This record gives sequence, structure tokens and C-alpha cells, in this order.
Amino acid sequence: MSKTTAVPARVSQGSTSPIPDMAAWRKAWMDATDNPNQFWLEATQEHVAWETAPTQGLDGDYDSVGEAPFKWFADGTLNLTVSCLDRHLADRGDKVAILWEADEPGEGRSITYRELHAEVCQAANALSALGVGKGDRVIVYMGMVPEAAVAMLACARLGAVHSIVFGGFSAEALRDRIVDCGAKCVITQDIGLRGGRKIRLKAVADEAMAGQDVDHCLVVRRTGDDVGWTQGRDVWWHDVVSAASTEHDAVIVDAEHPLFILYTSGSTGTPKGLVHTTGGYLTWTTWTTRVTFDLREDDVYACVADVGWITGHSYIVYGPLSNGATSLMFESTPLYPDAGRYWDMVERHKITVFYTAPTAIRALAACGDEFVTKYDRSSLRVLGTVGEPINPGAWHWYFDVVGDKHCTIVDTWWQTETGGHCITPIAPATPTKAGAASFPLPGILPQLVDANGRQLVGPAQGLLCLLHPWPGQARTVWGDHERYVDTYFSMFPGKYFTGDGARRDEDGYYWITGRVDDVINVSGHRMGTAEFEAALISGDAISEAAVVGYPHEIKGQGVYAYVVLAGGFTDGDLLKDLNGLCRRVIGAHARIDTVQVVPGLPKTRSGKVMRRILRKVAEGRAGELGDVSTLADPTVVESIIAGAKSG
Ligand code: WTA
Repeated sequence: MSKTTAVPARVSQGSTSPIPDMAAWRKAWMDATDNPNQFWLEATQEHVAWETAPTQGLDGDYDSVGEAPFKWFADGTLNLTVSCLDRHLADRGDKVAILWEADEPGEGRSITYRELHAEVCQAANALSALGVGKGDRVIVYMGMVPEAAVAMLACARLGAVHSIVFGGFSAEALRDRIVDCGAKCVITQDIGLRGGRKIRLKAVADEAMAGQDVDHCLVVRRTGDDVGWTQGRDVWWHDVVSAASTEHDAVIVDAEHPLFILYTSGSTGTPKGLVHTTGGYLTWTTWTTRVTFDLREDDVYACVADVGWITGHSYIVYGPLSNGATSLMFESTPLYPDAGRYWDMVERHKITVFYTAPTAIRALAACGDEFVTKYDRSSLRVLGTVGEPINPGAWHWYFDVVGDKHCTIVDTWWQTETGGHCITPIAPATPTKAGAASFPLPGILPQLVDANGRQLVGPAQGLLCLLHPWPGQARTVWGDHERYVDTYFSMFPGKYFTGDGARRDEDGYYWITGRVDDVINVSGHRMGTAEFEAALISGDAISEAAVVGYPHEIKGQGVYAYVVLAGGFTDGDLLKDLNGLCRRVIGAHARIDTVQVVPGLPKTRSGKVMRRILRKVAEGRAGELGDVSTLADPTVVESIIAGAKSG
């Protein structure tokens, strides 16, 4: 039986958490399970500023999701920015809302709630003058500058729907998203800075917008480098935003009005645009930020994710600002200028809550403890992780070295689809176990099932499903509700299938074991094997490709590609060439670690690639292949094993 770690005194002292201990968690979880409507109507009225308070809870469910998306708080109306900005002006006007740490240590700026409110109003007025209004889609393709948060909030102020595309994506990937959501405006910056390197955001955006129906491109000047300019379409942020009025009447929308689209990878096909709506998403992110981290008024809260991913949406911008917190935005990388950067920031800004990913923890642990211990970390209270399973070794390093055994670790399991935390320890309530996401939050009803959908009870390992909608759950896939239903609700009808495997131990703790589908998670970046395969065969050299993940010490998973060369091609500098393709089609963050040329892929007689075999070989477990008799050509496997590379 794995041991629990008691919650350190520093974490409990001074807590005002609505869920201070496990008895309170049990009661809240039971209340939300027995009477979800009452529980969430009360919670949303306490935590969110509504124009018209809702009287309706959930409308619809997982059985009727094929007919129409379920709704939360359908008769309520609001504007999200009132919760994130206006309501703080009276008591927190001079409190820092965004604490921006730029690429160079110590550079950046602090933006108070009053200043942020004014800048968001200006940006909303500027966007409105460019023709952006309620329901219009706006693509945001930026680095970690405060204007990215301003752009998100300005869209929300107008009822426009933002879709952020991570700044590492290629022009092709950006163009696909512009087309899919029908964006009429793109917001970008001249150059992005990360770890001293320049990222040509405007140039990539120009390539993506070429020939597309984008009315305007609003450009933030970050470095002042020369950039291409299309007269009539391109507009400098500093020209139109700074000149605009600092007053703007927030556009009131229905609770179910779409707030944003975020594209994410799945098992098959192209990335899908998950749609989060306003009232439920805001309720969920506000409430989970408050509860999971035991967020306090004087906290300096730092989530070092990127706004291009869901973590940045929910836990840099919306959740913290709705709670009136001081939220740090970080432009750089954990290794710039050296492996002490995070802890240098903790000391300088007196950070109390720090939220990062296991891949960063593992990379930093490998650099040695001195980078941590030379900085004062006594302000820290809660340490969060997200994005992939955290191995016990990394967990202990985070707990012992970074937190000096005085902080609690919240290992938060959730997904783009879930909007916010679902299974996670709660500070200060939950005694933690190294590597366990622990217990479901109120409103989350997990169930483990076997491959046939049969419920597993007690300690068990299986496929993780959730049984009941919660306010923060994505409602649909943009323009393709059928795909949403197919992806998440067809495997086990009546249940949301997460795509993750999990184990429940004898104390009821959940341990997420990772994806059981064809999604690979590289350094916390979620990518579909199908996307890699499409990129590889987009060139002339490869006729067939199959890509699988394998365990990687730092990155969590590495990417292993099996390729069949087209006639006349040899494997000269194949890895480099193929990574060039991946960079062009997907983006710089999509890299193959290992490539193996094979004479053919192992297929069943009906032509289906047997990925199970390829995964085993990539993991170095070719001895455990099991039955390969259903293969069309078993000799292919022998040559694959003979040519296997160690990942
Ligand atoms: C994985 C990121 C284990 C999981 C918020 C999930 C985790 C995928 C954890 C979603 C965790 C996220 N422990 N695995 N604490 N958090 N994951 O959509 O496989 O980028 O399905 O959302 O990350 O990735 P996404």
C-alpha cells in the first residue's frame, strides 16, 4: 500500500478554504452528486458576477447529447469580464492583476486591475472599430505577453469568440485553424521572445493568412523588428488600442454563448476545435482555482504554462482573474538563462502558489539541487503539476527540494475537454500520495470500466470515464457536433470517455496511467499520432508511416516513427528531413526522436496497422509481442525487431 504524505503545517495555517479537510470534501462531493443543480447554482451565484442570475442548473445529459449539447445555467446572462475585471475595481483596483516576467530575468511589468480594465476596454473598442462583434471568431497567435490576456478579455468583452493558437504552430497549422473557425481577425505580435530566441510570429501569420478571408490583423510590437505589412489589413496595436476610449459597456451574453474555441489533438484526423461556453466554464475555473489551490487574497500565484494551451486559459487568465488574484505571466523558459530561473522568480516575486508540468520538474531535477537551494523559496505554499503523470521520483524532488517539505503538491488531472481540474488533491484537505491525482472534485463522478464497458469496483485498473456533466465541460466541437459525440460518447454510451487509463487503489486514490488511445503526450504537449503520420507522408520520400509513443525519461513520452521509403529514396539524413516536414506541417514542437526504416508495416489481413506491436518494439519489449498470427505477413515483424533502435 502506498503511503500518504500529511499536509504540512504551512499549508493549513491561515486557510479559509471552503473545503479545509476530508470530511468537508466528502460532504461537498456527496452534495454535488445528490443535488448537482442546487450545488452549482449556489456556487455560481457566490463566485460569478451574473447580469441575470440563473435559476436553471443542468439541461440535458450524456444520453441526449447526440441530439443537442447539454447546457448549464441556460437562463442566466452575463459578461465574463465583469467577473474578471469590473467587480474588482472597488476593492482591488490597485492590486496587481498581471505580473509579467519577460524573457530577460527581472524585466517585465505589473498591471493593476484598474489598468487591465482600462486596457481591455480600449482593446474592445479598437476591435469593435475593426468590425469585430458578438459571435465573430478571432484567432490569437502570440507569445506570453500581457497583450495576449488583454486580447482574450477584449474578445470576451465583445462576445466575440477567441481561438488561441500556440505560438509554436506552423503556418499550415495556423491556416487550418483560421479556415476551420472562419476567423475574420487575427491578433499577433511582430516577434516572440523565448529563451533569447526570436520567433517570427507575424511572418508565420502572414503566410497563414495569404489568400484567406481575414479582414484585419492586429499586431503588437514586442521587439520592433521589421515585419511585412499588408496595407488595409494590418493594424498596429499601439496605434488603435492606445488611442481608444478606456470605457466600454460589456456586451451581455447568454450563459451558453461560446467563449472560446481551442483546437486539440485526438486519436484520428485533424485537431478539433473544442467549444467552451461562458457561464459554466467561468464557474468551473473560478471555483476550481479557489478550491484546489486554496487561493488567498495575498497570494502571488504563478502558473508557468502558455496561453496557447488550456492550462493558460483556465489557470493563468480566467480562473485567477475572476478570483481577483495576482497572476504571473512568464514569457521565457525554465532553463533561461539557467536552471534556476523559476526559483529566482519565486524569490523575487515571493510566489506562494506555483504551477508547472512534470516534464519541467524532471528536466530541472536533472540539473542539480544547487539551482534551487540558492534561492529563498520560503514564500511557497502550494505546488501544482499538470499535463502528464508525474513519476514518484520527480514528485519527491518537487516536494523535498523545491518545497522543502513545507508545501503540498496538487497533481491536477484534467483535459482541454474538461475546462478545469477534475481529479486532484485539494489544498489543504487532501493527504497526498506521490504520483496520485487522488480524488474527484465535487461534481466529478469517475468510473473505471474494462474494454467492454463493464464497471470495475474497488481497487482496479481500467479506462477512465466520467458519468455526469459538470459546468466546465466542453459542449461541442466547432461546426461538428457529431464528431464530439463520436469521439467522447460512442465508446461507452451514456458515459464521457476520457481517453485515459487509471488505477484506483485500496484507499480510493486515482492514479492516472496515461492515454490509452493514439494521443501522445510529449513534454506535456498533446499530439495525435495521425497528425505526425500525415506530416510524414506529405513529402515524397515516405510512402507509409506509423508513429507511436514510448516512455522518455524527461519528456514523458518520445516519438518513434516507423517509415516505409518510397521507391528511389534512401535514408540519408532521414531524421532531419522528416523533422523538417513535421515542423512545416505541425510546428516546431512536433519532433520525432527516433526513426526506423521498415520494409512494411505490420498489418492485419484486413489492412489495419497493428500498433500494439509497434509500441512494444519502441518500448524495447519485443519479447512480449504475444500472438502475431493474425498478421498478413509475419516476416515483417522479424525485420522490424531486427532493425529496432533504442529510443
Ligand atoms: C494528461 C492538459 C496524469 C492526460 C490540462 C490527459 C495528466 C491529457 C494529468 C490532457 C495529470 C493531464 N496526471 N495525466 N495530473 N493532467 N494529463 O488536453 O493524459 O493538453 O488526457 O490538457 O494530459 O491534455 P490537455
